[in-house]
Amino acid sequence: MTSILVLHGPNLNLLGTREPEVYGSHTLEDINQLLQDRAAAIGVSIRTVQSNHEGVIIDAIHDARSWADGILINPGAFTHYSYAIRDAIASVALPAAEVHLSNIHAREAFRQTSVLAPVCVGQISGFGWRSYLLGFQALVEHISTR
Ligand code: DQA
Repeated sequence: MTSILVLHGPNLNLLGTREPEVYGSHTLEDINQLLQDRAAAIGVSIRTVQSNHEGVIIDAIHDARSWADGILINPGAFTHYSYAIRDAIASVALPAAEVHLSNIHAREAFRQTSVLAPVCVGQISGFGWRSYLLGFQALVEHISTR
């Protein structure tokens, strides 16, 4: 069975109440449940991790080597400057899909750069909670057609 690590970065635990005009009103639990439902429907297994700490995210990426076929990641603000997370993704050589609720390319200049995008298969940005489902589907199809 295909297994996917779903990683949520800093401040995403506050979804639902955090700037809902930017990030929508779904909570992280809502998004995890939607992913879980979609995964169950197509026979894929997922594990979800949220952390506000860079090292915990890196450890989760390393740990995924032993069980996961791919990584779906919303790195939050780490997107824009974490070379350590970028190196972790490159090191484990698992396909990763980067997702964002907001369209990072239409926001402040500092958000328009992703240091992770070059080591990911692709990026989905701007579709709210749907970005996660779109990224999930794209990642699973990418893995199954490799
Ligand atoms: C985000 C965009 C980032 O710039 C921001 O720091 C986040 C959320 C998004 O999902 O739109 O925390 O990754």
